[in-house]
Amino acid sequence: MSLILSPSMMCADFSNLKLEVEKLNNAGVDMYHMDVMDGRYVPNFALGPEDYQTIRSLTKKPMDAHLMIENPRAYIKFFSDLGADIIYFCPDAEKQPARTIDDIHALGKKAGIAVNTGTSFTTVQELLPNADYVLVMTVHPGFAGQPFQAFVMPKLDQFIAAKEKYEFVLGIDGAVSREKINQLHRKGVDNFILGTSALFNKSVSYQETIAQIRKE
Ligand code: DX5
Ligand code: ZN
Repeated sequence: MSLILSPSMMCADFSNLKLEVEKLNNAGVDMYHMDVMDGRYVPNFALGPEDYQTIRSLTKKPMDAHLMIENPRAYIKFFSDLGADIIYFCPDAEKQPARTIDDIHALGKKAGIAVNTGTSFTTVQELLPNADYVLVMTVHPGFAGQPFQAFVMPKLDQFIAAKEKYEFVLGIDGAVSREKINQLHRKGVDNFILGTSALFNKSVSYQETIAQIRKE
């Protein structure tokens, strides 16, 4: 089972983004996680189109777009044109989430659903046959550096079980620590969004951290 390590770029050091991406590329990360917020769906803003274009120009690795915005369907093409390979949206932000998945596929991109802390498994279950990626939020969406919301663990178990039936890549996003990666990769989670808990603002290099995680 794959171990996908995806740095959450809103946590990066933007005083030297070029060097940050070079270091992350060299450290062997698998994909870049790009948080997008509109100040309405969540009370915060994160990465913008210029950040996206800059990082896109610095790496050939896949990039996602984690849309924590209202009316995400209206912006699917915008992020596809910016170079997103995977586009996550929050199903509860859409009246017809199944159509949003179709729109993402029509652009030749991978469709992801981001399941917020307050969204149940049954609410999104019917989307699973067409979703390529599922991201179970382990913090309330909108900010880095928040505490892990352990109450979502039974729901995560439901997605781990559902993975047996459908072919989606299962990830978690929020307060992902090295211990959590170790524990949950064994249980069946594939993709780990690395933010301030596991990767950034540490005295250890990205190279060292990624190597340690892959060794464990
Ligand atoms: C929060 C974002 C996460 C966050 C992860 O809404 O979706 O990607 O930046 O950062 P940590 O790991 O610090 O929670
Ligand atoms: Zn995110």
